[in-house]
Amino acid sequence: MRGTLKHYKVAVIEGDGIGREVVPEGMRVLEAAGRLFDIGFSWQHFDWSCDRFLKTGHMMPADGLDQLRSFDAIYLGAVGSPQVPDHVSLWGLLIPIRRTFQQYVNLRPCKLLPGIATPLKGFPPGEIDFYIVRENNEGEYSEAGGRMFRNTAAEVVIQETIFTKMGCDRVMRFAFELAAKRKKHVTSATKSNGLVFTMPFWDERFAAAGKAYPYIKTDQYHIDILTAHFVCHPDWFDVVVASNLFGDILSDLGAGLVGSMGLAPSGNLNPEREYPSMFEPVHGSAPDIGGKQVANPVAQIWSGAMMLRHFGDSEAADAIERAIAAVLATSEVRTPDIGGRARTSDLGEAVASQVAAAAAMKNS
Ligand code: NAI
Ligand code: MG
Repeated sequence: MRGTLKHYKVAVIEGDGIGREVVPEGMRVLEAAGRLFDIGFSWQHFDWSCDRFLKTGHMMPADGLDQLRSFDAIYLGAVGSPQVPDHVSLWGLLIPIRRTFQQYVNLRPCKLLPGIATPLKGFPPGEIDFYIVRENNEGEYSEAGGRMFRNTAAEVVIQETIFTKMGCDRVMRFAFELAAKRKKHVTSATKSNGLVFTMPFWDERFAAAGKAYPYIKTDQYHIDILTAHFVCHPDWFDVVVASNLFGDILSDLGAGLVGSMGLAPSGNLNPEREYPSMFEPVHGSAPDIGGKQVANPVAQIWSGAMMLRHFGDSEAADAIERAIAAVLATSEVRTPDIGGRARTSDLGEAVASQVAAAAAMKNS
């Protein structure tokens, strides 16, 4: 047996619903890859969730963020329960983590894999392969606003959108750097015809960012027509940069294009690595299927591969991504969302075995 050369401390937050079913599968596959590539993990579990909120009134303890600070990464399932208002669960855990740890890039691959049926006609695997780079710290999801004259005829609510120059510039720079390593094309999601202050500013910053990358093709679309182009021409895109709300919406659309919510991973990245980054699927806690062992664990497993890539372990990340692709292309072990009857743990086990089998073949 080879010695473990690298060791990562990972905070695990399974959260709610299917988070509890898919996270163990992600860990199983990461452990399998770790055995092959001399990577060890210390997992520390945190039971922060809506269940905890219902018992204690808080999604996480008062010093929760401090507890996470020293980890190499956070591996999260999802939070959300029908018994807790969604803004309470999200703002009580996920959004404070993303903001405090300056995870200002939410990187979301949209890749159609062989063996997966897209609802779109005529797009083979390979033709849908792009990234959404979602601004993850500001924008439409702000705490600026308020509600007055509650329960009167004059009741009024205001929610402000906040774009900063620094916030726009840094996420756009990330998008251009990513495109520079790919097909050299960045598309911006805008709505500067309707939103007269924020989105013209976003467009200005996009134009300014593009000047530093003259060899990268740029275009921009208003979000309304962009959704239609996602459906009719998903092959047009390489890297799509979008504000927090637009990126959020486009990512579920992207998951739909590549065949299932259960196939869309994501990384909440602090590119400067001053703080831990967080890896989680695009999907939520899916209470409609929670506890039934029918959730597709691939998005969670793939998010684990993104974590390894962020650590710099690209060989191990590649091995996991190849194993996912091989299982989906050839195996009958499929969860119901992709046309099978397998259980969540069966698919996790199949990917973990594939990681090990592919390595055995390589070494033989
Ligand atoms: P959702 O992503 O949880 O579910 C949407 C639909 O996709 C459901 O029909 C679900 O069964 C299906 N689905 C999702 N993941 C799947 C998987 N791995 N395999 C098979 N099918 C899957 O979104 P929804 O219903 O809008 O939200 C449910 C809860 O999750 C809410 O409380 C919401 O606030 C929360 N949420 C949390 C997120 C997070 O923690 N990052 C992100 C999105 C939603
Ligand atoms: Mg979302």
